[in-house]
Amino acid sequence: MSLKLRRLSYALGAEVCGIDVSRPMTEAAFGEIYRAFLAHGILLFRDQAITREQHIEFSRRFGELDRHDALPRDRHPDHPELLMVTNEPKPDGSPSDSRYTGRQWHSDMSFTMEPALGSLLRCIAVPEVGGDTLFANMYMAYDALSEGMKKLIAGLHGIHLSGTRKIANTETGIPRAEEQKRINPPVAQPVVRVHPETGRKALYIGEKVRRFDGMTEEESKPLIDYLVRHATRPEFVYRQHWRKNDVLVWDNRCTMHQALGDFDETRLRHMERTTVLGTPSGYVVANG
Ligand code: SIN
Repeated sequence: MSLKLRRLSYALGAEVCGIDVSRPMTEAAFGEIYRAFLAHGILLFRDQAITREQHIEFSRRFGELDRHDALPRDRHPDHPELLMVTNEPKPDGSPSDSRYTGRQWHSDMSFTMEPALGSLLRCIAVPEVGGDTLFANMYMAYDALSEGMKKLIAGLHGIHLSGTRKIANTETGIPRAEEQKRINPPVAQPVVRVHPETGRKALYIGEKVRRFDGMTEEESKPLIDYLVRHATRPEFVYRQHWRKNDVLVWDNRCTMHQALGDFDETRLRHMERTTVLGTPSGYVVANG
């Protein structure tokens, strides 16, 4: 098989044309897809009218799937491998807990000791306009730093927090941030990570980083803000305009992303995500 690819932007991403991800695929054919995934950071498959089971099955080709124990409220009750990202109200009419998922620049599961290798997001419903997602190429962001800045950040670890959204758990009344902190204590991750498969260095930062280990928040904030601003310069970014039945897979080890609130919140935006477990990284910080 020779893969038909169409680049999505200058910075990253490619559309894979003419593939039905629900059909059986040989190891060789999947190998081509995986090589393209490593090369482009993001792959888009359009027009994939697939079931939840098929979404999970295709995702498993990329590696072992997370059962989302770190985000128990957002996973599907019958399919723990699926994380709901939806603004559809709950059956009792209360707002969805996951309606603001991903609104900060982040790399998936960076607040755990097994940050995600990849994520596969399936678009089930999207408003007529908006509901886009931005992705940044963190190799490019790292490469563009000065030698001085690369030296400065080489040994730094950023402390990543989960659940910074201010939503109360409707059953316990405990704010989500507190609940998340109990399940997921803060984890320090290297600010520069070497991609385990390509060997390239990438910036590993985002808006879930509270401070650098060994430094105060006040000292850390200007550098965190600078690095996030730098990494999200337009030339490093791709903007995904979703269509129903899009399946997008991204490499969390060399990209970060942000879901935008650029849509009418009364319109349904419903996405479902699988998360592929990555290699162990980081350490828990007691006083994060
Ligand atoms: C996520 O951060 O996994 C969700 C992204 C999105 O909803 O666009």
